[in-house]
Amino acid sequence: LKWKMTARLQRTTHALVFFGLFGVLEAATIACRNEEGEAVDWFIFYKLPKKQDKESRETGLEYLYLDSTIRSWKRSELLINATRSALGRTLQQLYETYAFKDNNTAYVLYNDGVPKSAGYSRNFGHTKGLLLWNRIQGFWLIHSIPRFPPIPEEGYDYPSTGRRNGQSGICITFRYNQYETIDSQLLVCNPNIYSCSIPATFHQELFHLPQLCAGSHSAKIPVRHLTTLQSAQGQSFLHFAKSDSFHDDIFAAWMAQQLKTHLLTETWQRKRQELPSNCSLPYHIYNIKAIKISHQSYFSSYQDHAKWCISQKGTKDHWTCIGDLNRSPHQAFRSGGFICNQNQNIYQAFQKLVLYHEDCN
Ligand SMILES: *[C@@H]1O[C@H](CO)[C@@H](O)[C@H](O)[C@H]1NC(C)=O
Ligand SMILES: *[C@@H]1O[C@H](CO)[C@@H](O)[C@H](O)[C@H]1NC(C)=O
Ligand SMILES: *[C@@H]1O[C@H](CO)[C@@H](O)[C@H](O)[C@H]1NC(C)=O
Repeated sequence: LKWKMTARLQRTTHALVFFGLFGVLEAATIACRNEEGEAVDWFIFYKLPKKQDKESRETGLEYLYLDSTIRSWKRSELLINATRSALGRTLQQLYETYAFKDNNTAYVLYNDGVPKSAGYSRNFGHTKGLLLWNRIQGFWLIHSIPRFPPIPEEGYDYPSTGRRNGQSGICITFRYNQYETIDSQLLVCNPNIYSCSIPATFHQELFHLPQLCAGSHSAKIPVRHLTTLQSAQGQSFLHFAKSDSFHDDIFAAWMAQQLKTHLLTETWQRKRQELPSNCSLPYHIYNIKAIKISHQSYFSSYQDHAKWCISQKGTKDHWTCIGDLNRSPHQAFRSGGFICNQNQNIYQAFQKLVLYHEDCN
């Protein structure tokens, strides 16, 4: 009996030490996570559309995955609704934080389509994402999925609204010193925040997010703002943020001319809501019309709610941008952003997906 009790005590002690340490380590290393739960500098996912033909065995939950430790897309063996998926693993840190009611961790969830609600908010930006951070570091997930993710009280799930069409997103791990810049960019994007907690310890450095979280803001919103950001491991990013008073196509009027590159854009295309490819300005915009996943597998941009663009093949600057806005006349009147970088692996991965694009007439 004595031995049994000792063993049990030991197990309990181990468990306490383990969870204690684990808690400390976890708190210190909020990061984007891969499917093994390991911290990565960044990852990108591309959720594939559910094919419309009845023969297809696709669930609409399959996804391509790329991160800072691999060279090219990997087709995940998991479904995106799994808690072991990269999104599930990464967001688990949010759901744990909530469970622990941690005073040193902040989070902001925003989406023009709030989970479990009907309709979309047009008073806010066409922008979707999630931030989770402490005073050391955190991550920023920028994505296209309507009504995602669930509030912290509910735990991880993937909504049916994100299933039929393709969806894209990028998660980047940032040191805390980048959050002041992120704070300013988000003010421009005018996010519809549906869940947040920003403890007082952050209010010295961050001006806008605590106010936005409280449902107000006092600052004058810049028409647009461009900034550089650096990931925890030193990958450089450019972030474009436009407000709803920048009444123009973000791709043609700003991003292409700023990046000095012709861009191929893949955004949600809807009949009668399209902007044609545009060669009026020095740097052109070409709409991608179809995506190829493999030799046998294609889909049209009408089935793709993803939002990304890349430098045209053959140009020297290999930019890739992922973000919030579609090429549609209406989106000129919405706020939103794009995050861009020149990583070769990311560029090659997206370049490989382009089946064909529309030329200017
Ligand atoms: C994910 O979706 C699939 C297909 O609908 C379903 O069979 C599975 O149970 C879901 N998994 C989770 C964890 O919800
Ligand atoms: C968090 O801070 C508040 C106010 O400072 C305090 O009342 C509360 O006990 C703290 N909670 C934890 C879990 O430390
Ligand atoms: C191309 O885009 C620019 C910037 O939005 C716009 O001023 C111009 O009218 C567009 N050209 C065409 C042919 O639509």
